[in-house]
Amino acid sequence: MSKPRRLHGKVALITGAASGIGEETARLFAANGAYVVVADIDDELGRKVAASIGIDQASFHHCDVRDEKQVEEMVSYTVEKHGRLDILFSNAGIMGSLASILSLGISDFDDVFATNVRGVVGTIKHGARAMVEKNIRGSIICTTSISAMIGGGEVEQLKANVTS
Ligand SMILES: NC(=O)c1ccc[n+]([C@@H]2O[C@H](COP(=O)([O-])OP(=O)(O)OC[C@H]3O[C@@H](n4cnc5c(N)ncnc54)[C@H](O)[C@@H]3O)[C@@H](O)[C@H]2O)c1
Repeated sequence: MSKPRRLHGKVALITGAASGIGEETARLFAANGAYVVVADIDDELGRKVAASIGIDQASFHHCDVRDEKQVEEMVSYTVEKHGRLDILFSNAGIMGSLASILSLGISDFDDVFATNVRGVVGTIKHGARAMVEKNIRGSIICTTSISAMIGGGEVEQLKANVTS
């Protein structure tokens, strides 16, 4: 029996797709028939991921999500290459240092917000524009973390409460 290809003909753009959750999602989407744009700041890994999926189903595009111009170009690249955007997965993110507030590096804090907050908002903005322009009822998915809601120490506290 042939495998289900639920995303046959769909065009998916995934940020942070050179490794981890983004890479696995790119492979899963492609296995289900989607054309995938693998976007990342890591050119070497990103190119490898796209090549291993296959040039008929994946391509790499360099994008630093902290830079809105690059985000806009990434979306334009996708639409110019495939004619449309159906699925946007805003997944690029960084953990930042786990320092206490007493030793927190403010530039590190700025980088986390530029990537995980401003980068996600810019990605949704330009992705949504591309969908609206072509009247596409697409899907926009964002990766988040429990750490966005509860600080690290409190997560440990929460786990302790759940298990006790
Ligand atoms: N792995 C987990 O347990 C976990 C848990 C909660 C949340 N998350 C979140 O899930 C997302 C993916 O995590 P992962 O574990 O796959 O991490 P990962 O480090 O394997 O993948 C993140 C990818 O994002 C890319 N990236 C980083 N900064 C970027 C930027 N400015 N522009 C474009 N690409 C950039 C990296 O090069 C990398 O390929 C992150 O947002 C992470 O915070 C992960």
